[in-house]
Amino acid sequence: MQNISAEIQAIKRQLGDKLCIMGHHYQNDAVVQHCDIAGDSLELARRVPQVNADYIVFCGVYFMGESAALLAKPGQAVYLPSMDADCLMSQMTPAPLARKVLEQLYERGRKVIPLAYANTDLALKAVVGEYGGAVCTSANAGVMLQWAMKQGDGVLFLPDRHLGNNTATALGIPPQDRHVLRIGSKGLVDPETLPLDKKLLLWPGCCAIHARFDPDDVREMRAAHPGCRVIAHPECREEVISVCDGAGSTSFLIKDAARIAAEAPGTTLIVGTENHLVHRLADRFKDQCRIIPLGHAVCGNMAKVTEKKLWTILTEIVSQKAIPLAIEEELCPPARLSLTRML
Ligand code: 13P
Ligand code: SF4
Repeated sequence: MQNISAEIQAIKRQLGDKLCIMGHHYQNDAVVQHCDIAGDSLELARRVPQVNADYIVFCGVYFMGESAALLAKPGQAVYLPSMDADCLMSQMTPAPLARKVLEQLYERGRKVIPLAYANTDLALKAVVGEYGGAVCTSANAGVMLQWAMKQGDGVLFLPDRHLGNNTATALGIPPQDRHVLRIGSKGLVDPETLPLDKKLLLWPGCCAIHARFDPDDVREMRAAHPGCRVIAHPECREEVISVCDGAGSTSFLIKDAARIAAEAPGTTLIVGTENHLVHRLADRFKDQCRIIPLGHAVCGNMAKVTEKKLWTILTEIVSQKAIPLAIEEELCPPARLSLTRML
């Protein structure tokens, strides 16, 4: 891999300011070392409008590249090293189904504002924009949920019910004000029994990688490492987050590890999120503290982006054979609205 790495660096020198490589924190180290900008979903979305390069190579999953293409300037092209890297959760809210559910809620007199996690596709973001809603990420879900609550008589949070629940708990929205919708292929299941007084309606989606963590994993770690600190990503189930010492976006987890390394060296820190990030943190702070994954959690789609694929897309850009990510024109205005409401 030595040669590939050197060749990527050579292409970066050749293209200079025309190229910007962006990457999510879950990418593997071999990819992250080449990124000009690394961040969590919110940071990456915020940085795109400031990038002036002609070619943006986005190392992450499909919805992230799609959002980058939506926020890019005219004439800029966005490339994904692995077009088949698709966040599984982003497929849990097909846009026509979300529209059907919103229609059913409106028919029943509910002016519900949709609040979509960034982990959704362009068509869903367009529906959200049309219905006066916005996008959020795990870094700003609290602020965005408070905003959405003021826009209508309730909020439909989608697709991650765990992020929705964890955010509601942090804001003090009681469990009796929340309801996880039951959704079939034609829309709401049994709409007659839908409680109409609930303020927060949750789409029944989740990230399978984070949802597999269990409160017992936390208890076992505490027993094995007395005095340890446990932090996790809010895509984990509420029962898990409630027994952790802290929770937040991937950038929060990195900042927390850096703080503990500086302020409390010797601490054992248990981190509940995708393991590529946890291993990077363990290595970075190995002289100050011990960092251990809460359990096995690898996002197979994030891992589809490899250094070799990054090299391939860069060589294709140089030879003008690379195909940029195409987004549907007519979906752009409402989808952009839902994103810019957040930004
Ligand atoms: P962040 O927004 O925290 O970067 O997380 C994105 C994600 O996909 C987590 O699984
Ligand atoms: Fe999607 Fe989960 Fe992978 Fe994040 S970790 S990209 S939410 S499947």
